[in-house]
Amino acid sequence: MNRFAPTRAAGALSVDELTNSRRLRRMRKAAWSRRLVQENHLTVDDLIWPMFVVEGKNVRQPVEAMPGVFRYSVDIAVKEAERAAKLGIPAIATFPKVDLSLRDDTGSHILDPDNLINCTTRAIKAAVPEIGIITDAALDPFTSHGHDGILRDGIIANDESVEQITAAAVLQAAAGSDIIAPSDMMDGRIGMIRAALDANGFQDVAIMSYATKFDSAFYGPYRDAIGTAGLLKGDKKTYYINNANSAEALREAEQDILEGADMIMVKPGLPYLDIVRLLKDQFSMPTFAYQVSGEYSMIKAAAANGWIDGERAMLESLLALKRAGCDGILTYFAPTVAEMLKR
Ligand code: PBG
Repeated sequence: MNRFAPTRAAGALSVDELTNSRRLRRMRKAAWSRRLVQENHLTVDDLIWPMFVVEGKNVRQPVEAMPGVFRYSVDIAVKEAERAAKLGIPAIATFPKVDLSLRDDTGSHILDPDNLINCTTRAIKAAVPEIGIITDAALDPFTSHGHDGILRDGIIANDESVEQITAAAVLQAAAGSDIIAPSDMMDGRIGMIRAALDANGFQDVAIMSYATKFDSAFYGPYRDAIGTAGLLKGDKKTYYINNANSAEALREAEQDILEGADMIMVKPGLPYLDIVRLLKDQFSMPTFAYQVSGEYSMIKAAAANGWIDGERAMLESLLALKRAGCDGILTYFAPTVAEMLKR
């Protein structure tokens, strides 16, 4: 009754006429030709491995919301660093889970030259000098309230925080850190850290600025991993960038570059590809993204449910960051990817 058989309209153009014989599928027809025209590649040189460390000996504590991720005691962190170096991973970024008894209002334990972060750096540098060590100078693992800065009457005291972060950065450099990566978003921290590093003879220690760190829900599992989740009062909206803004991100990055950042970072990663591209095009700086804990957990959780192919999603997400303009990526997948690439 209602049968309708579509026919080509009389006089309609053929595909060759429509496309002028330009057929993009030609180069996609075989694996060899797809390989030949592939524009971006992920290699082990792109990987920075964020690693959680904890007090103790012979400890490998699983991080619940991040299957495959552990908190390592320093001795095991050294072994893992050796493994990373053998895999060809260029650098590790360490994050400490500091004992609750050592945390206070101002995060003063960050100024202990023998705190967990500095001990880890020294131990890894002694055993595996060829791997790069990146340390964070933010106060959040050390404060009893989980904020990245010092709280005074409920307000983050910018300048006082910067003084403390800067002193911590110098101690981290003295312990052997190659790159200081302050993740706190306080104003003026890059310039202050650069000046202090130089004044103390650490001209060769670089700064990777968490230039555009956005207020984000994707940090959840990390806060569990370093034990700040239950501590944090309020939110970090007075220092992280509003995730609706990109012009402000551009200004943040420009400011950090002017103050002396050697490398800039966008954090989180995948939801902020536009920012990566914007910064890369604008500044031509070494540009990195941090594929954060929540991004890792989403892929792992969906894969564990059989809803996505976890391995392909992992590689696709990392390649997407490369395509957007990243020179490298901080990712919890680093050792897994490095092993895959080796095969
Ligand atoms: C805080 C800090 C955060 C991360 C690293 N350092 C964010 C936060 O807790 O607010 C997030 C890393 C991740 O989610 O993987 N200075």
